Amino acid sequence: MPTASSFPALGLYVHVPYCAALCPYCDFAKTANFTAEIQQRYLQQLVAHLRAWTAIPSLRSKYPRGFSSVFFGGGTPSLFADEYRPLFDVLTPLLQPGAEVSLEANPDDITAARLKVWQQLGVTRLSMGVQTFQPEGLRVLRRVHSAAAAHHAIAAALDVFPALNIDLIYGWPGQSMDAWKADLQIAIALGIRHLSLYSLTYEGRTPLGRQETRGVVQRASDDHLADLYAVACELLGAAGYLHEEVSNWSLPGAACQHNWLYWQDQSFVGIGAGAHGYLADPHGPGLRYAYGRSDRTFNQHALTSITDRPFDGPTLSSTFGVTVDQGRDLDAWLTELVGSGLRTRHGIALDAALHRCHLLFQPTPVLQHGLNTGLLSIEAGQLRLAPQEWFREAAWCVEFLGSVTPANIL
Ligand SMILES: C[S@@+](CC[C@H](N)C(=O)[O-])C[C@H]1O[C@@H](n2cnc3c(N)ncnc32)[C@H](O)[C@@H]1O
Ligand code: SF4
Repeated sequence: MPTASSFPALGLYVHVPYCAALCPYCDFAKTANFTAEIQQRYLQQLVAHLRAWTAIPSLRSKYPRGFSSVFFGGGTPSLFADEYRPLFDVLTPLLQPGAEVSLEANPDDITAARLKVWQQLGVTRLSMGVQTFQPEGLRVLRRVHSAAAAHHAIAAALDVFPALNIDLIYGWPGQSMDAWKADLQIAIALGIRHLSLYSLTYEGRTPLGRQETRGVVQRASDDHLADLYAVACELLGAAGYLHEEVSNWSLPGAACQHNWLYWQDQSFVGIGAGAHGYLADPHGPGLRYAYGRSDRTFNQHALTSITDRPFDGPTLSSTFGVTVDQGRDLDAWLTELVGSGLRTRHGIALDAALHRCHLLFQPTPVLQHGLNTGLLSIEAGQLRLAPQEWFREAAWCVEFLGSVTPANIL
């Protein structure tokens, strides 16, 4: 997947954990319990962390041209506009020419004034959490916006940001096939260039997850979910969308560069409560880290300088207050690569992966059957899974991992 410029790809993820109200299905790092002072401190800390990460000498020398893409995720990044100025003062000089800058927005936050500020700051792309256009679905998901508000917000946003993504959720309790088709047809008719379609997950620590455990709500059957997914593939394919990844479709030229970093083993710095980061290593498993989910802990952490110390896990932990995955090895790297790559239209670079892990490929009977029947293909060294199977990628991943053998024992 080419990036906007020819410089090495490096992403920046900025997490903004504040929400006006909490949705019962959401398990992201978020809080509706805050004051203006807490938020102000949080935004100051984001600036300090961005400065500190980008001052690390080894990162500067590896990525001298800075960030190729930025993603403000939440929580609800659209709660702020002008408040991001100090952050952009630091960020803008660190952006590669043509860098993509996405910001997640809730429909109720879209105003002409905010759209203008985001554009002036350098945001290039909005990602709006619509979830559904059906009043019944908005009620079940306890969204605070109405269908009419979503339509108004989309119309206003498209005027300023033609590169608009909307998120829709499918498989909500009671959702019919007709209701899902209606949502897809609305998105297509509106000319939305990028769609993220998520199957509703029931997370243990959310109110919806607990309701499901108690039997108060019932999760959609696997067959119904598979049918909803199949209809999305069919309708969006017919409307000219490229199926980029199991949950993402885009019109030609409208792919999200930042998403592709995650799916293709590229580096991204993450900052903020609950943010994750990954620093890829072409010869090894790379380094993964995560910030704790509490905004208060993030606010209280006293940053120390990293410029005069070695760039390793313990130093990153003590400097940024992050947890570094210390036990990471090439097995973990390969499992992640296959798990994310097999759900995308580009698949995985098989030969390069085998070479890096010193493995030989000896397909299991199931994998071989997949290759014989065209569900899997290997072309120019890329192993690809057919889109109708992305939904079952976990099972294929297990087969793949059973199909590799250490090169030295044969
Ligand atoms: C973390 S939210 C942030 C966006 C924004 N705050 C909003 O709610 O519109 C990003 C997206 O994740 C998706 N999402 C969150 N929880 C989910 C769940 N349990 N199942 C499926 N999708 C979910 C929603 O589509 C949401 O728009
Ligand atoms: S879905 Fe969005 S608005 Fe709702 S709680 Fe999660 S981050 Fe906040």
